[in-house]
Amino acid sequence: MKKNRIMIFDTTLRDGEQCPGASMNLREKLEIARQLARLKVDVIEAGFPVISAGDFEAVQTIAREIKGPMIAGLARCVAKDIEAAGEAIKPAGKRGRIHVFLATSKIHREFKLGKAQNEIIRLAVDGVKHAKSYVESVEFSPEDGSRTEPEFLVDVCHAVIAAGATVVNVPDTVGWAVPEEYGALIKHLHDSVEAFRNGKAIISVHCHNDLGFAVANSLAAVRAGARQVECTINGIGERAGNAALEEIVMALKTRADYYGDIDCNVVTKEILKSSRLVSRMSGLLVQRSKAIVGENAFAHSSGIHQDGILKKRETYEIMNPQDVGWGGTELPLTKHSGRAAVASRLKHLGFKMTDAEVQSIFARFKEIGDKKKFVYDDDLTALVEGHITTVSEVWSLEYLNVTCGNLTVPTATVRLRKNGAKEGACQDASIGDGPVDAALKAIDRLTKIQGILRDYALRSVSEGQDAMGEVTVKVDFGNNETVTGKGAGTDIVEASARAYLNAVNRHLSNPAPRSK
Ligand code: KIV
Ligand code: ZN
Repeated sequence: MKKNRIMIFDTTLRDGEQCPGASMNLREKLEIARQLARLKVDVIEAGFPVISAGDFEAVQTIAREIKGPMIAGLARCVAKDIEAAGEAIKPAGKRGRIHVFLATSKIHREFKLGKAQNEIIRLAVDGVKHAKSYVESVEFSPEDGSRTEPEFLVDVCHAVIAAGATVVNVPDTVGWAVPEEYGALIKHLHDSVEAFRNGKAIISVHCHNDLGFAVANSLAAVRAGARQVECTINGIGERAGNAALEEIVMALKTRADYYGDIDCNVVTKEILKSSRLVSRMSGLLVQRSKAIVGENAFAHSSGIHQDGILKKRETYEIMNPQDVGWGGTELPLTKHSGRAAVASRLKHLGFKMTDAEVQSIFARFKEIGDKKKFVYDDDLTALVEGHITTVSEVWSLEYLNVTCGNLTVPTATVRLRKNGAKEGACQDASIGDGPVDAALKAIDRLTKIQGILRDYALRSVSEGQDAMGEVTVKVDFGNNETVTGKGAGTDIVEASARAYLNAVNRHLSNPAPRSK
């Protein structure tokens, strides 16, 4: 094997499936295995054949159906386990691997197994030899390796390699290790065992995430000479999970300057698809802010960041989202967004606007952003269509408060500004048949223009509970000619008041049909 080749051993279907609530049926496992093959992992650990007929069948089916990666079955150093694993992986032929494990740490030897060091070595050697009678590729894991005495671990490595193991995996079974220490342990094994240096065997690592170090420990191990990393999609696994495949792979690729020219076969464009599939099949949701595959992983919210991204993507992005299967960088519009991001989105949506018009939309956008988590394209379109008019805004809404309820007379208090800052604001209140009626009557009192509402329509123009409503009104100002007005907002009373004012302003800008 090439010196810098890192083997990616995916254990989503074995350790990942051990995650409480993640168990999957045969069809689901097969679908994931197919995707792992497209992702081009080197080894798929398909299950633990002895534990159930279902696991046996899953490993056997995957070994038969999946071409490309090696297919591994897990076994304790127990004859019936090794036989089950050997049988299950048989259809994979030369691509089959048996992964045998036995605990080596003092605490496991004394309290779990009741065995001395020499007995552990004998059992490990017997297990590896037995596995070797089935397949060429045998991996041995000294369980709880990171808490095993380093010198004993060296002895175990020598013994299992002499018995035929070509991979020795050093599990941090309980997530105890910290990166510098774990890296030093791997370096010690690498320096002490000739077979790791001459390529006869490789060191593998398998890190759990109990202290949140699974990925960091795995990467420290790679720096120290490990050449196989065991990991899972989305980091799922026993307890706090395993090292996340997507983080390991992207760290190695993105920081090649630090990790060296590492050769890893994974097709990174398949990462997101793999993550989504595993999430769907296992029922385990991916946290929004999860690195690489979380919804927010490439979404930039702050105005300063969005501005930087628009100027040069690399200012705030160290990876290209398309490299891992995302559509592209997302600049979700939120209250944190700046004018540049809003202007860019408006342009993208096809609106040709002057700076003054963008500024006017931006002010409304900020109001909406305070009320909604995200301002979607539909919201922005509704804002533009309800806001940009050819009429000058004689009257504009400054404040609106309504009280209503089943035992309350609907009342609206409205403050309007006339001709911008020039003429100042005025305020009045009115009751009505409902909150909208009350608001419109208060507007009539302030503008001294009596409108008769002929038609009223409300439609939702974006998604979710915080969707924007767009109100369209047709108002008769006393000459039997109706004037249309539009307004948008998350609050339908406010949207109605804006639509009504839009009609009033249109009416005032059109000298022909005059009101009284
Ligand atoms: O965490 C662990 O020690 C394991 C072994 C079986 C490799 O999953
Ligand atoms: Zn594990």
